[in-house]
Amino acid sequence: MEFSVKTNLPAKQQSDCLILGVFEGSKLSEAAERFNTNSEGALSGWLAKGDLDGKLGHTLLLQNMPSIPSDRVLLVGCGPKKDLNDKDFRELIRKMLPVLQQTGSKEAVCFLTELVVKKRDIAWKSKQIVQLFLESTYRFDSFKSKKEKADNTRRLKRMVLIVANKSETLKAQRAVGEAQAIVEGLHLVKDLGNCPPNICTPRYLASEAENLAATYSSISTAILDEKEMKALKMGSFLAVAKGSQEPPRLITLEYRGRNDKQKPIVLVGKGITFDTGGNSLKPPMSMIGMKYDMCGAATVLGVLKAAAILELPLNIVGVIAAAENMPGGSATRPDDIVTSMSGITIEILNTDAEGRLVLCDALTYCERFKPEVVIDIATLTSAAIVALGSHASALLSNHAPLAKDLLEAGQSSGDRCWELPLWDDYQEALNSASADIANIGTPAEAGTILGACFLQRFTKDYHWAHLDVAATASRGNAKDRSATGRPLPLLMQYLLDRVQKTGTS
Ligand code: BES
Ligand code: MN
Ligand code: ZN
Repeated sequence: MEFSVKTNLPAKQQSDCLILGVFEGSKLSEAAERFNTNSEGALSGWLAKGDLDGKLGHTLLLQNMPSIPSDRVLLVGCGPKKDLNDKDFRELIRKMLPVLQQTGSKEAVCFLTELVVKKRDIAWKSKQIVQLFLESTYRFDSFKSKKEKADNTRRLKRMVLIVANKSETLKAQRAVGEAQAIVEGLHLVKDLGNCPPNICTPRYLASEAENLAATYSSISTAILDEKEMKALKMGSFLAVAKGSQEPPRLITLEYRGRNDKQKPIVLVGKGITFDTGGNSLKPPMSMIGMKYDMCGAATVLGVLKAAAILELPLNIVGVIAAAENMPGGSATRPDDIVTSMSGITIEILNTDAEGRLVLCDALTYCERFKPEVVIDIATLTSAAIVALGSHASALLSNHAPLAKDLLEAGQSSGDRCWELPLWDDYQEALNSASADIANIGTPAEAGTILGACFLQRFTKDYHWAHLDVAATASRGNAKDRSATGRPLPLLMQYLLDRVQKTGTS
């Protein structure tokens, strides 16, 4: 798929499909008005007949319009004539895409870039269009014996975005490049998330990291096995892997986008390739979908890939704690006490609270990178689903400026997060009679906060934020679930904002 940016479409130029906006009350957008005038009112004629009311996302496909050399005109309802908000714009693009893709158009010229969206510029609008388009073509069919044919939805080959002037052209072109890289990353996150747990094991995640390092010279990787983790005294991490036939891996990826010694941004991903709950076994219906418990890890891989494609002038380290949580004779028991790499001892009262057990050692390991900030991404608690639903990832942080940056990046990318408090008052719920700390809270309330409070004990040495993505990383029900790729758009926006703030040299 090819995207290009142009300042106008000469009146005589042919195209497979023009995409134009119409507001409620049959008010044509500026560009639509121009074509309407050229064709002696043919567009407004159809509106007068009542074929399109202009409601947000409603569409009308017209063909062979007089004096318009393009084969088709796709009119898209934009709602009442006023400035749109983010959600409206995304929604009308999302609704327009399948209609466009069901036509035979190989190429389209999109004028929806002219719509005014509150506080958003041409870069934002172009990025949304490209990203939504490319995302709409994603299919996960690697495990279907009969692949869906390269159907209508893959027929479109080129899209031209029309912008107002030269300076917008540059901004839009840049945004197109960013969107393409973000979607490359997103597709990797989705493929890994959707991949079944008998294939996507900790070693599989390690091989994915090696693939990235082989493809991008800016990325290098180091993979620790069980023995090396033992040498580092990662007793908490290893306790989770004990019940599984699949050996755990601690995967580090280093992306160097700069030659100087700028401190790295460290991203830590929970990579539980399947979470049965261990000996604190999950009931059957709660176990379905637990292949998605490595979505944090997948996000780390996706972000590094997108950063490498964009050659971001930043240093980024990814750390993935990969293990499988299984029950059995050699698995950890509730009541076991283990010693983490930091020296803190942990009473494991519930083997299903395993994410924090692998992450705490990974977070201690991060100290060696002398990080600027550490952000962990984890499908950590079902309480995050209760608290925020799928509209926002839960954010908890020990550093207010970092939390602010992430909240803002969430707003502008549309991949939002929302902050929960990390007050000290919550800490005592983690007290243990026999060890330094228990891995679940008593009373069992504020589950998302307590999960973060546990991790906080291991992040005293640096600025840290925790994204609990249990509700946002995948969507759907037991029989029809899929990875969303979140919070990759949020993190990519955070990184792009960092580039703006820190400059390139
Ligand atoms: N991976 C789960 C959290 C989860 C649940 C993610 C549902 C996505 C959907 C995590 O390991 C877990 O089991 N958490 C427990 C913690 C509890 C035992 C303290 C939970 O949230 O129930
Ligand atoms: Mn669990
Ligand atoms: Zn889990």
